[in-house]
Amino acid sequence: MTRYEEVAGTVRERIEHGIYRVGDRLPSIRAVCQEFGVSISTAQEAYRQLMDAALIDSRPKSGYFVLPSRVPSVLPSVSRPAQCPLDVSQWDQVLELVATQHDDSRLLLGRGVPNLAYETLKPLSKILAGLHRKNDLNGFNYDKLSGSPELRQQIARLAITSGCLLHPDDIMITTGCQEALAISLRTLTQPGDVVAVDSPSFYGTMQILKASGLKALEIPTDPQTGISLEALEMALEQWPIRAIQVTPTYNNPLGYTMPEARKQALFQLAQRFDVAIIEDDIYGDLAYTLPRPRTIKSFDDDGRVLLCSGFSKTVGPGLRVGWLAPGCYRDKALHMKYVSTGASATLPQLAVAEFVAKGHYERHLRYTTRQYQRQRDIMISWVQRYFPKGAGISYPQGSFLLWVELPAAVDCVRLNERLAQRAIHVAPGSLFSASGKFHQCLRLNYAFTLTPEIEKAVRTVGELATEMTEEVQAAGVE
Ligand SMILES: Cc1ncc(COP(=O)(O)O)c(C=O)c1O
Repeated sequence: MTRYEEVAGTVRERIEHGIYRVGDRLPSIRAVCQEFGVSISTAQEAYRQLMDAALIDSRPKSGYFVLPSRVPSVLPSVSRPAQCPLDVSQWDQVLELVATQHDDSRLLLGRGVPNLAYETLKPLSKILAGLHRKNDLNGFNYDKLSGSPELRQQIARLAITSGCLLHPDDIMITTGCQEALAISLRTLTQPGDVVAVDSPSFYGTMQILKASGLKALEIPTDPQTGISLEALEMALEQWPIRAIQVTPTYNNPLGYTMPEARKQALFQLAQRFDVAIIEDDIYGDLAYTLPRPRTIKSFDDDGRVLLCSGFSKTVGPGLRVGWLAPGCYRDKALHMKYVSTGASATLPQLAVAEFVAKGHYERHLRYTTRQYQRQRDIMISWVQRYFPKGAGISYPQGSFLLWVELPAAVDCVRLNERLAQRAIHVAPGSLFSASGKFHQCLRLNYAFTLTPEIEKAVRTVGELATEMTEEVQAAGVE
């Protein structure tokens, strides 16, 4: 390797690890000469290489600047699920994923957890400690069944940013968003009913369908615009669909956000066929640019949208603070809440209410989303570099989850078996389908601080995926 390639490599690494961030001015040519002990022409050649790679740009009389990384050219393909309602399988795999969450001996690249190490989260610990002192033993008492009025007040205030005018009494606090989803489904359906879902779809919701004896009708979904309204309309004509369940904003796992006009059209379609919508908005506040996208609920003028959300992805999943705005289904939903967990835990609700009321939540969101956006670009650049050529990569505008579609030869459950020997784990795509489709897809988390160790692990995933592709190709040739 020549000297200028070495210098370019080091600067590239610093860009990828966020030491030099998008928009930052890079050290001057003179500073590079001093740091690396190289000549002016070597330093200039190193920067020229980085300009050729579209990583940096030079501005006359200003110096060299880090460019935003390029939008990936290949997105995952539009899903083509089965055209009929199915029983949900995959519980064993979901259980395995849930069990690995506490396996410290493995690097869990696919988990759905936000970064809990940011300083902007610290005030929450203080608030919790203060509450213990202040509340004496009151925090140990049952809360209202619909949850803390203080917290519901704050949620109603926050919901304005998604275009929703909710009264605190329109909201009930749940034990995580998972409970909000389960209550919604139980409120609307009986065993044997059909629920239309986007595809791929969050495995937690799929497992509620399974446990409740419901059938999933997976609707083709576009990685940019979300659930196909055309396919959904045909399905509504053909099947007795009781509810439509979607995650239209920063979808987990596909990353898309439905354009506002399509959200409104989805609502109108549901109205035409008189079906309820269960909208999961758990990632909605993690927008990289403001204002955050509107919810489908913001178009709801007859109460048919049950909006499910919570603080697991923005603040911390261990608090188990979720919420549900059940629209016109409030009475039945409250009953389902009662038979599910009764009132939710009191102290975490009060802590989150204070965290939001004092402005810490918005400050924390501003900080985390800046980090996540930068880390998205770094993770994408690693996937582009280390994964098999032509891999489809999502391009989320919020949240912290990336969806990668590998060549069909790669089965990500088998990939995980090989990765286990290197103490690495990814979330295999088949978790996100009723019947184990998306075997060649996987989900990666970029909320972690992206260290060289993580880069090495991503590289290993890419190398093993390439190895599997080549094995299948070789077998085909023989
Ligand atoms: C789309 C989606 N909805 C709901 C949940 C469940 O959230 P909670 O941990 O608040 O129950 C998750 C968690 O991974 C999720 O990704």
